[in-house]
Amino acid sequence: MKIAVLPGDGIGTEIVAQAMKVLDLLKRDGMKIETEEAAIGGAGYDTAGDPLPEATLKLAKASDAVLLGAVGGPQYDKLDRPLRPERGLLRIRKELNLFANLRPALLYPELASASTLKPEVVAGLDIMIVRELTGDVYFGQPRGIEVRDGQRWGFNTMIYSEAEVRRVAHVAFGIAMKRGRKLCSVEKANVLECSELWKEVVAEVAREYPEVELSTMYVDNAAMQLVRNPKQFDVIVTGNIFGDILSDEASMLSGSIGMLPSASLDEHNKGMYEPIHGSAPDIAGRNLANPLATILSVSMMFKYTFGDQATADRIDNAVKKVIAQSYCTGDIWTEGCKRVSCSEMGDAVVAAM
Ligand code: IPM
Ligand code: MG
Repeated sequence: MKIAVLPGDGIGTEIVAQAMKVLDLLKRDGMKIETEEAAIGGAGYDTAGDPLPEATLKLAKASDAVLLGAVGGPQYDKLDRPLRPERGLLRIRKELNLFANLRPALLYPELASASTLKPEVVAGLDIMIVRELTGDVYFGQPRGIEVRDGQRWGFNTMIYSEAEVRRVAHVAFGIAMKRGRKLCSVEKANVLECSELWKEVVAEVAREYPEVELSTMYVDNAAMQLVRNPKQFDVIVTGNIFGDILSDEASMLSGSIGMLPSASLDEHNKGMYEPIHGSAPDIAGRNLANPLATILSVSMMFKYTFGDQATADRIDNAVKKVIAQSYCTGDIWTEGCKRVSCSEMGDAVVAAM
């Protein structure tokens, strides 16, 4: 198992260091895991003048899986767009063809009071958002800012091919088959042609999965339903920009964005694994961040890329245990919890394993 490790910026280094403790334990237990670190994002720009240095891309391509921390920081916001950290992240997703982004939102019972929603609304929550990751308005051409008739216009293109919709729909139906067999496709087909095509293609693919109950929802309604009655959802499939927004919203149902892992997969289940949160420059370098989303991303790596459910369960159970033991970083802290640092949380998970 060759894993490219890309800590990135801000809290990225701290949280990835905790995930590395988990990998080191698995190595000591005899697993053949090889890790190699490289720079991405602002760290890539600082060391090689490029948010996705050539060497990093080469390493990622030669690996079975990529573990990523987070990218971005205020010091890079003034750079030209192609040099910004976020562009490095978008490019690696595109270069590796990681079109299916899996973002589970799961509530640990002990964290129900950390959510801003009422405990009875979120108790038992278990949603999987499947976000298309390499198309849509994120990558569509033309794009730019131009002067026309004496004023500046900013424009992007929302675009999907049938093939792009079909392949992510298959992933979502496949996941729904292994879960509650309910899939909700989210779009804005009442306004956008791109969504109209999305909806048609998802309905075509649905014929191959008669056991899955397909529903469709406009994205504005979905945003509302997610806070009104989130437990109505099992699997959600949606495009890149809608998925970006809805997955941040869904993360708060689970108490903290610091709890949510993600997997980004290509058609052969090669994947990149990262927490869904950002680089949190405000707390970077202070050993305060919650490493659990990154550790849970390692669990997803074993499940989806290495097909090793037992190891994934072992990591998930260790995380459940530390939460049941009331270990909390600041983001999930509630009255009565044991407040721990990022590195203490990593140690606690390793001890629980
Ligand atoms: C995410 C992030 C990224 C995105 C940013 C950092 C480019 O918000 O992974 O959700 O928009 O996809
Ligand atoms: Mg986002």
